[in-house]
Amino acid sequence: MGADKAKIVVGDQTYEVDIVTGTEGEKALDIGSLRGRSGLVTLDNGFGNTGSCRSSVTFLNGEKGVLKYRGIPIEELAQKSHFLEVAFLLIEGALPSREELDDFAQRIAKNSHLPEPFKKMMASFPQKMHPMGALSCGTVALSAFFPEGNPPDPSAEQRAKAITLLLGQMKAMIATYYRLRVGKELRDSDPGFDYSSDFFQMMFGEGDRDVDPEVAKALDTLLILHGDHEQNCSTSSVRMVGSGKANLFSSVASGINALWGPLHGGANEAVIDMLDEILADGGGYKKFLAKAKDKSDPFRLMGFGHRVYKNFDPRAKIIKGACDTVLSKLGVHDPVLDIAKGLEEEALKDDYFMERKLYPNVDFYSGIIYRALGIPTDFFTPMFVLGRLPGWLAQWKELREDPKMRIGRPRQIYMGKTDEAYVEMGVRPPKSEGP
Ligand code: CMC
Repeated sequence: MGADKAKIVVGDQTYEVDIVTGTEGEKALDIGSLRGRSGLVTLDNGFGNTGSCRSSVTFLNGEKGVLKYRGIPIEELAQKSHFLEVAFLLIEGALPSREELDDFAQRIAKNSHLPEPFKKMMASFPQKMHPMGALSCGTVALSAFFPEGNPPDPSAEQRAKAITLLLGQMKAMIATYYRLRVGKELRDSDPGFDYSSDFFQMMFGEGDRDVDPEVAKALDTLLILHGDHEQNCSTSSVRMVGSGKANLFSSVASGINALWGPLHGGANEAVIDMLDEILADGGGYKKFLAKAKDKSDPFRLMGFGHRVYKNFDPRAKIIKGACDTVLSKLGVHDPVLDIAKGLEEEALKDDYFMERKLYPNVDFYSGIIYRALGIPTDFFTPMFVLGRLPGWLAQWKELREDPKMRIGRPRQIYMGKTDEAYVEMGVRPPKSEGP
């Protein structure tokens, strides 16, 4: 990595700043000392142009459609690896040896049983509570059930323990909340299964029936594809909360809350709702394309567009291929798949979408697979949580291991009133009559 200099000229003053070059050749101006020297801050709505940290976890090039975890292309991982191995890779920085992987799997398996009072707590949640709300509450509650994972300055051992605990508990939490919601007897984790198969048997298992390996594999691939995505909205939330030295559980809960939004992970649920609406409307997607282009209509084509990808999202490419395979193997014909393909074809030749470089993203086809696997729509975003958890953990660990960690605290440019007088209640005009 080399460093160079850039000059920022303001009036007759010139400020030199370092240019930081990443291992993949990306360049950034290090403006960390600019305010101290010039009184100026930078302003970047939505952080579209701001690097918040140096990270070695994930590389993504949105122009070229490249995504790598720890230097390994996502396509190769999806084809050759499995979720737990990828989780280890993300968190520890390198692929595990057989012994390391076995040890990691065992530590997670030991932590895959929810405490009985925890299950009672989940059972007491209102029946209509969205699973993302339940996961967020449950994740924060873990800090009470496992207070040893709480210290503001965890040792390396405490960090490792909290990480494997969360990987086990999250799997159990999602499956348990599902069974509580549908009124089925709870099933415990079975260490004889791999991570994805265990999740599947806990969620859907009946009697001694084996988990369909094809189904478990499809789920495993989806989890790998969601593993990490550098400094997105939820990961930045995890880092921001973690930078205040809040414990891992509350940091991850903030990631869950951020992911819930329909512009982020909640898009997978919103895509299926949109496709169902198009189907119910007779399947004519052109009307919906027109709505998406109409600036006076808040409707957006869900599952389309991305802040960073200005080319095909490589994850969407893999998921689109997997969609056909999974549906045909399971013998499922879902009419929304035809609508999704038609919509994509039409959008990709439409000037509006072409000019803005709007392509299908990871959420466009994933919901169709989740539905084919029998996962209810409101559990789609929790599936994203399960997949993204290793990424959040890896990024939190990287943050907490950084000797230069500082609390996250952006600046602002104040645009409000100045020098207002305090007016007493009795003579205060209603807000509507104010300036
Ligand atoms: N449908 C219609 N128009 C769109 C869409 C869309 N899905 N996405 C962006 N645009 C338009 C937008 O109106 C704007 O047009 P103009 O330049 O005329 O004002 C232009 O494209 C740029 O959009 P933006 O809102 O400035 O882009 P952004 O980088 O701030 O937002 C996004 C990115 C993902 C939030 C947005 O594309 C979107 O809302 N997509 C739909 C929701 C979605 O699928 N989210 C999942 C994202 S991928 C997985 C994840 O992050 O969890």
